[in-house]
Amino acid sequence: MSEPIPRTFMAQGPLRGHARVPGDKSISHRALILSAMATGESRIEGLLDSEDVIATVAALWSMGAQIGQDSNGNWVVNGVGVGGLLQPETALDMGNSGTSTRLLMGLVASHAISTTFIGDPSLSRRPMGRVIEPLSKMGASFSVTPEDRLPLMVHGRVPAVPIEYRLPVASAQVKSAIMLAALNTPGVSRVIEPERTRDHSERMLKGFGAEVTVEEVDGERIISVTGEAALQPQLMSVPGDPSSAAFPMVAALIVPGSDIWIRHVGVNETRIGLIEVLRDMGADISYANEREIGGEPVADIHVQHSALKGIEVPPEIAPRMIDEFPVLFVAAAMAEGKTVCTGLSELRHKESDRLAVMAKGLAQLGVPVEESDDGLTITGSGGEQLRGDYATPVIAAELDHRIAMSFAVAGLASQHGVRIDDIRPIATSFPSFPPMLEDLGATLQ
Ligand code: S3P
Repeated sequence: MSEPIPRTFMAQGPLRGHARVPGDKSISHRALILSAMATGESRIEGLLDSEDVIATVAALWSMGAQIGQDSNGNWVVNGVGVGGLLQPETALDMGNSGTSTRLLMGLVASHAISTTFIGDPSLSRRPMGRVIEPLSKMGASFSVTPEDRLPLMVHGRVPAVPIEYRLPVASAQVKSAIMLAALNTPGVSRVIEPERTRDHSERMLKGFGAEVTVEEVDGERIISVTGEAALQPQLMSVPGDPSSAAFPMVAALIVPGSDIWIRHVGVNETRIGLIEVLRDMGADISYANEREIGGEPVADIHVQHSALKGIEVPPEIAPRMIDEFPVLFVAAAMAEGKTVCTGLSELRHKESDRLAVMAKGLAQLGVPVEESDDGLTITGSGGEQLRGDYATPVIAAELDHRIAMSFAVAGLASQHGVRIDDIRPIATSFPSFPPMLEDLGATLQ
C-alpha cells in the first residue's frame, strides 16, 4: 500500500469553464459484465478507467473473458457466453468496490464455480447478507463469517433455481445480483422492487437481447428475467457519471460568481434526485442538448452560482440520489436555514459510515449539524464562507472517495481551504477529479 496523499483544496475566485466527467461507474461495471456474458466481441467507448472498474475487469479476466483496449482507448471484450465462466485460479480481489463484489457474486452464483471474494478494509466492513440471502434461495452456498462480511466464498449452483424476491432494502446492487444470477438459471426469475432504484441493468440487458420485462403493479416494479439467455455482443457508449458531475455542480453553486458547463452527463431519472433537490433549494441548473445514447438519456448541464435555501428532503427520493448525499450536505452547509434529511440509514453501509463521517467533518468546518439514526439536520451559513476550528481543518476521508471529494468541494467555499488527509480513494471513481477542479479555477496544494 502506498503512502497517504494529503491535499488542500481552496478557491480564490469563481469557477468557470467546461468540465468533463468520466464514464458512469454503474454503467461501466454492467457493460463489462454483460459483454463478458455475450458470445463474441463487444466494444465499449467511454468506459470509466478507475480502480473499481479495473477490479471488475480483472475478475472477469480471471474467469475466462478476454478484455483489452484498442488504439482509440475503447475497451474490447471477448465474452464467454452465458454459463461459460471458468473457475478462477486465485481469490477475486474487489479492492474498494461494493458494486463489483455484489454483481459478481450474483454472476458466479449460477456457474459451476467456487471462489473467494476479498477486499480492502472499507469493503470488508460492508454487509453482504443482502445478496447472500436471495442467492442462497437460488441454490448457491456460501462460506462466510457470522457477520456476512468479506472475505467470503461463493459456491455456485448449476442449475440454479428461479426465485421471486421482494427487495427488503432499496438496492440496485442486490436487484442486479439476482438478475445476473438469473441469466444462467432455467425459467423466469422475478425481483419485486418497492422503491425505484437505478435501472441500468434492465436497460442494458434488453439491449443485449435478453428477455427482460418490467411491470408496475400498485406502485411496485416487477422485473422478470428469462434465464438461459443468449446475449448478443454490442457496441456501447458510456455517458458521463451524474454521481461524479455532482461535485463540480455543487462547487459551482456555492462559489460566488461561478458559471460552468458539464458536458455529456447521464440524466437517467433514477439518478438525478440531487438535481431535483438542489433546484428545490433554489439552484440554477439547466440542461442543453438532450439526447439518448445507448439507451440512456444524456445532456450537457449548465450550473450557475445560486443562493440556496434549506429544505426538508423527502425521504422517498433517497434511492435516486443515494451516492449524492455527502455533497448535498455540503450544499446544505452553505444554504440559508436548515436542511433536514431523514430515511438515510443505508448511508451508514457505504464505503464509510457517511452520516457519521460527514457530521464530524462538517462540525470541524464550524457547521451546526445534528446527527440522528437515519439522517442529518444541517444549519447553513446563508452563503458565508465556512470557517472551521483550525486555520485549515484536516478531514479524514476514511477510505471513501465521495467523502474526500465532498470536503474538497467544501474547501472551495471556505476561508482557509480544507485539507483532506488522503486523496488516494478518489481514484476508485474519478481519477481526473483534482485536475478537473484546477481547470475550473480551484487551487490545490
Ligand atoms: C450501485 C448501487 C448503489 C450505489 C453504488 C452503485 C450500482 O448501491 O450506492 O454506488 O451500481 O448498482 P446500493 O445498491 O447498495 O444502494
